[in-house]
Amino acid sequence: MSEAYPITEHEYDVVVVGAGGAGLRATMGMAQAGLKTAAITKVFPTRSHTVAAQGGISASLGNMGEDNWQWHMYDTVKGSDWLGDQDAIEYMCREAPAAVLELEQFGMPFSRTEEGKIYQRAFGGMTTEFGEGPAAQRTCAAADRTGHAMLHTLYSQSLKYDTDFYIEYFALDLIMDEDGACKGVLCLSLEDGTLHLFRAHMVVLATGGFGRAYFSCTSAHTCTGDGGGMVLRAGLPLQDMEFTQFHPTGIYGAGCLITEGVRGEGGYLVNGEGERFMERYAPSAKDLASRDVVSRSMTMEIRDGRGVGPRKDHIFLHLDHLDKAMIEERLPGISESARIFAGVDVNKEPIPVIPTVHYNMGGIPTNYHGEVVDLKGDNPDAVVPGLMAVGEAACVSVHGANRLGSNSLIDLVVFGRAAALRAKETVKKDQAHTPLPENACDAAIARLDGFRNASGDMSTAQIRDNMQRVMQDDCAVFRTGDTLKEGVQKIGEVEKQMAQIKTTDRSLIWNSDLIETLELDNLIRQAVVSMTAAENRKESRGAHAREDFPDRNDDEWMKHTLTYHSEGEGVRIDYRPVHTYTLTDEIDYIKPKARVY
Ligand code: FUM
Repeated sequence: MSEAYPITEHEYDVVVVGAGGAGLRATMGMAQAGLKTAAITKVFPTRSHTVAAQGGISASLGNMGEDNWQWHMYDTVKGSDWLGDQDAIEYMCREAPAAVLELEQFGMPFSRTEEGKIYQRAFGGMTTEFGEGPAAQRTCAAADRTGHAMLHTLYSQSLKYDTDFYIEYFALDLIMDEDGACKGVLCLSLEDGTLHLFRAHMVVLATGGFGRAYFSCTSAHTCTGDGGGMVLRAGLPLQDMEFTQFHPTGIYGAGCLITEGVRGEGGYLVNGEGERFMERYAPSAKDLASRDVVSRSMTMEIRDGRGVGPRKDHIFLHLDHLDKAMIEERLPGISESARIFAGVDVNKEPIPVIPTVHYNMGGIPTNYHGEVVDLKGDNPDAVVPGLMAVGEAACVSVHGANRLGSNSLIDLVVFGRAAALRAKETVKKDQAHTPLPENACDAAIARLDGFRNASGDMSTAQIRDNMQRVMQDDCAVFRTGDTLKEGVQKIGEVEKQMAQIKTTDRSLIWNSDLIETLELDNLIRQAVVSMTAAENRKESRGAHAREDFPDRNDDEWMKHTLTYHSEGEGVRIDYRPVHTYTLTDEIDYIKPKARVY
């Protein structure tokens, strides 16, 4: 096998896979710490999905009114529907202001107030005075292109450091030793088809989410959960995969994101009867309730026959009452998207919108240092040596059952930096790499070779379409026992179709047929564990809304789901406790209560 696929070996202290916001911040920090660092990415760094983030990055700077990190923490815990780990949430909210000021110092072109401070807008679920006060203006924005500004800033900064970038390299599999430690990652150069084994004392997975498991999502085509796929194949679990966020305002029919910042600037949702229906569902926060609440309310309006359009199957988002100059200054990107993808002039007409898959709260379980964790004996927080995960690929878990808008960008930079700080403590610079057994890469190469020469009777596109439709239909905003059971069976059938896959391009140079197939293999595993975890969780919490179990059940279900997947045995489920403690005595554990907005 290795004669057919010669491998070039590289040695680093640290290898970061993925070069979006989290990957770049981790890479910079590792290099700053003096560690020999490589960044591996399947797309050019500034094309990573972080570029698509619109509305902003949360931090209690207090530029637009009183604010503090404790209020931010309270909102995040409540937003998570008490599934978030409170030590990690404290860490993120406490570090957020410094992380944003660091971005400012790096040259990120934030929008400004009259006094020249970073402009902050209101976002869903962000409040003051522990939920008792008015909405907080906590989301720092660069117009409605905050992710674009952030990604370019981080990439330009990262070039200052002595890091080797391997651009357009696709990570195939983690190389683990017999004790369960990660020893490196095997990658394929897309340009020339050569294989590269990156040895590292620490591999950091910053590979993003797996939104493309669904038919309609705001995620880029590259969001195929490559890190999660590799972790499952390594026999490690993914956590809380039943929690998928639907963003309330994807453009109807196109799926493109229309930022929550629109509602933060005064936009509102209207049903087919011209009613601002959010007043009924969230009397206090209205259109700025958290995303799960708004998405469910929109879905209920549509189901009750109060949608808009000829099929009454979507909702209108109005911003035509807002000041034109303000829209031009703060919402130029969505004005363009609405014109191109919905044919709408936002100054005159509402935008047709529908809840659209946007974010995976679940992912690779980690502690707040970014170290991957797994169950070991009595220890639910046992660190997997040599492996970290950050960003949407990870489940820290700061977002629990539902993420608040603008808490994603802050998660990227806070935990990207945290991972680098930890690696500085734990990785010894220039340490020799232990030899690997001859066959260390055989399984990964066999998988690659199998897909490259696959000669079944179903195309990758057919199977992907089958997967996306099952996920869209049966793992939706509202779920029931019957549809989830059927979903588990149907997604299992799609998984079996992988044995019938047919690829047509046998070359190794820019073989997009092969890469899409490898991506599908990552996606289908995560689709299977998501559906199974959703069927298994018999309660409603955050984004997981079961019609047959409409209430949250803290006694039985305030715990993280772990899902393991193997081709022979299918899915195995286990649990980790939620961290119900804080890091310091500057804030007490925030006790569960009913979640109303
Ligand atoms: O609506 C938005 O601008 C999205 C932000 C986020 O997902 O954090």
